[in-house]
Amino acid sequence: MALTDVASTDAPSYTMIKTEVQGRVAVITLDRPKALNALCSELFYEINDALSRFDNDTGIGAVVLTGSERAFAAGADIKEMKDAEFVNNYKTNFLGHWVEQISKMRKPIIAAVNGYALGGGCELAMMCDIIYAGEKAVFGQPEINLGTIPGAGGTQRLTHAVGKSKAMEMILTGSVNLDAQEALNYGLVSKVFPPEKLLEETIKTAAKIASKGAVSVQMAKEAVNQAYELGLSSGLHFERRLFQATFATKDQKEGMAAFAEKRKPGFVHE
Ligand code: CAA
Repeated sequence: MALTDVASTDAPSYTMIKTEVQGRVAVITLDRPKALNALCSELFYEINDALSRFDNDTGIGAVVLTGSERAFAAGADIKEMKDAEFVNNYKTNFLGHWVEQISKMRKPIIAAVNGYALGGGCELAMMCDIIYAGEKAVFGQPEINLGTIPGAGGTQRLTHAVGKSKAMEMILTGSVNLDAQEALNYGLVSKVFPPEKLLEETIKTAAKIASKGAVSVQMAKEAVNQAYELGLSSGLHFERRLFQATFATKDQKEGMAAFAEKRKPGFVHE
């Protein structure tokens, strides 16, 4: 199915991202090539705006976030923030808006990472639910070289993903990066593809997810995310309650009936 430029329908016209829709999958492409997709305020505003619109669009079941072959994103925009001061950072909750929308997303987001995913770029990828990488992807947290530390989840999510020793090594040296194969070995990414195949393969997975019943997809995402927040017994309790609740959906009735009748389910996302 051909990609449709959302901007041609009722979407706002963005200057730093491109948005496209393929079936039930939305693709957001960071498009600030001269700065290697450095995440300036305007770029993040546009990402958040697009995410919010897709999350509220019942025709969309999953979102893919990608960059260029050279860079997913080379981090927060250093030139924009270099003269920032603590008091103003604190008062405006600098970087708070980065996590607000993406952590509210009910629909799954898959990051398709080619090239550099450094600093805030690595953190943005890790905010997504699944990361697929191109063979030349580079993941790193170089903030220490700038006299600062990761500020959008790197110390927490990287540690969960790769373990304490590797996360410490990466964050404290600022120069130990992971290539795609290492990222796969550590479990930071779940698949690696040749760069030119990455987006196509990511969209295939997103389409597969978007073809399932939307309610159970969202509940499953919510339950997996609780594995980060809760202890095991509370997490298991939360999961069981959501599992029980899926039996109130049409898609559960359809999915199980289809299995028993040896046919494909026709999910209605209710
Ligand atoms: N912010 C602003 N501009 C950036 C940028 C960034 N994070 N990363 C790259 N750029 C700009 C460069 O300044 C350069 O612009 P000009 O052409 O105007 O000089 C352009 O993008 C191309 O970059 P390079 O010439 O440096 O390209 P390269 O191939 O030689 O190197 C690179 C690529 C290794 C990614 C290098 O650009 C680099 O080290 N970038 C900075 C990476 C970094 O430190 N990221 C962390 C930022 S802090 C952060 O993210 C905090 C947080 O936790 C949220």
